[in-house]
Amino acid sequence: MLELTGLTAGYHGGTVLHGLDLSVPAGTVHAVVGHNGAGKTTLVHTVAGLMRPGSGTVRLDGRDVTGQPAHRTARAGIGLVPQGRRVFANLSVAEHLRLSYRPPRRGDTTRPSVWTPARVLELLPRLGERRNNRGTDLSGGEQQMLALARALLGSPSVLLLDEPTEGLAPALVRQVHELVTTLADEGIAVLLVSPSPAQAAECAHTLTVLTSGRVGLRLDGAEARTDPTALHAALELAPTPA
Ligand SMILES: Nc1ncnc2c1ncn2[C@@H]1O[C@H](COP(=O)(O)OP(=O)(O)OP(=O)(O)O)[C@@H](O)[C@H]1O
Ligand SMILES: [Mg+2]
Repeated sequence: MLELTGLTAGYHGGTVLHGLDLSVPAGTVHAVVGHNGAGKTTLVHTVAGLMRPGSGTVRLDGRDVTGQPAHRTARAGIGLVPQGRRVFANLSVAEHLRLSYRPPRRGDTTRPSVWTPARVLELLPRLGERRNNRGTDLSGGEQQMLALARALLGSPSVLLLDEPTEGLAPALVRQVHELVTTLADEGIAVLLVSPSPAQAAECAHTLTVLTSGRVGLRLDGAEARTDPTALHAALELAPTPA
């Protein structure tokens, strides 16, 4: 379970997140949508420890990890799939997997399950076929799978996915959403930043519209699927034609 209370964060230019409350119970998907610059990546970076919050708390299964650096939040069970994937151009898929494998410490029973490279390849068989290819040889979809594999190899309790479907063809978007659902069913708490409210609603249990670093709207995934009017209004999108 991931729990954020009163989280503020920003840059020298000013505050971006203004006292955000948000929780993601284990085994669920909480989608965050919002316009460019709304603060979605700032939120993800603050939770992952790539930025320090100004105030507020980040709790993981009740443990306070606020302001801890990224290597510690990773060790505590927060996995990050960054926006833009960030795979290494010169490393092969196999090398990525080997370097990312971080089994939990012995006695750490907080993780929903333990991910080994072999298990990751069972979930993402395409990576096995590409094991000797370097980062630059991979397609966008394959790079996204590799970024996900890397995060899973830390056996996370919480997975932060920052626009994992950006630039992918519709069939791959569907595949990513199926994977997200599978991982939530495994017991992982998934925070999914999505570029599209319609896509986010497909697999989210809860949806938050981030508006200039504040909760503009929060609703059930089921509500968003049956009646997206409020969601579209919060995002100031034109209603979908009947
Ligand atoms: N490194 C930085 N230094 C200063 N300001 C930044 C930095 N990164 C982001 N910002 C600013 O913070 C605000 C929020 O940016 P953020 O990247 O969190 O938005 P986002 O919702 O992820 O947008 P996108 O949909 O484009 O990914 C924006 O106004 C942005 O210009
Ligand atoms: Mg972003």
